[in-house]
Amino acid sequence: MKKVTIKTASDIALIKYWGKKDEILRLPENGSVSIKLDGLDTVTTVEFRDDLMADDITIEGESNNEETARVTKHLDRIRNLAGVKTFAKVVSQNTFPKGTGLSSSGSGFAALTFAAVASLELKLSERELSILARQGSGTACRCACGGFIEWLDGDTSETSYSVSLKPADYWDIRDVVVVVDEGKKKISSTEGHEAARTSPFYQARLDRIGNKIAQMKQAIEHKNFMELGSLAEKEALEFHSILLTSEIPLIAWYPGTVEVMQAVTDLRASGVPCYFTINTGFNVHVLTLPEYEKVVAEHLGKLSLVKKILSAKVGPAPKEIDQHLF
Ligand code: DP6
Repeated sequence: MKKVTIKTASDIALIKYWGKKDEILRLPENGSVSIKLDGLDTVTTVEFRDDLMADDITIEGESNNEETARVTKHLDRIRNLAGVKTFAKVVSQNTFPKGTGLSSSGSGFAALTFAAVASLELKLSERELSILARQGSGTACRCACGGFIEWLDGDTSETSYSVSLKPADYWDIRDVVVVVDEGKKKISSTEGHEAARTSPFYQARLDRIGNKIAQMKQAIEHKNFMELGSLAEKEALEFHSILLTSEIPLIAWYPGTVEVMQAVTDLRASGVPCYFTINTGFNVHVLTLPEYEKVVAEHLGKLSLVKKILSAKVGPAPKEIDQHLF
């Protein structure tokens, strides 16, 4: 059993995963489309060791919390597949702030899955890895792939997996991530998914989503940035309208979030192609083209409520690296 370290990027959903038809298996109500974010990475080292009496898990320097229990549960799935009982040492580190809606669970569970599977020398296909990662966290299903990604919702565990629509070098899009707060987000995605169906507008969303996914895939196929951005922004607002109208309303935005959304709209009106999307956090992803990245970052960086700006390109599938974390 070798020590393995995997680096993988998180992703940003252009068409969001929201609501599950099976909470245990993490089967989503709808398919989704995303791009990997090179620059917002998770690095995870896993080693199964005979001398351990329990899993020894450290995430961002912390142990013994709710998250480590979820990691142990996922390791159990992988141990069951391999037919072993050996405990593992796991150390995981992000290059971006955790709990800010920047999807650390997606890259986290994808990195964990790939590292644990390789450490136990299990031979799994990309599809099997995606299915396995999905059971740790839904978005990890997509993070098991690279580039431009579609998660096929599926009706069974075997049919709910992700595929890479296009590789990372297919089209150079930039994500200017505007951080308006580095605290923990208030809305847990796992709880939010359960609330989705309490919105009176949720069914209308599901009725239209197949069409939206087809349109987004067309925009990617034709490298039509304005279409991609405009669809992604409208989708983000629709997604937040479901959050806002759930039985217990989920208000993710901070004043800084709204400041950025309005600034993006103004910047676009002045001729700069840029579009926002937001997950369950308050930070804002601003999609733009490489030649406009600097102007977008500088303009948004000057806003009164903006703390910092991160920047990402389209990223690859998970890969093994030699720099172990222990
Ligand atoms: C809002 O993958 O965090 O980011 O499956 O319960 O771990 P769990 O949920 P999670 O859901 C996040 C959904 C989203 C939209 C998206 O990325 O598609």
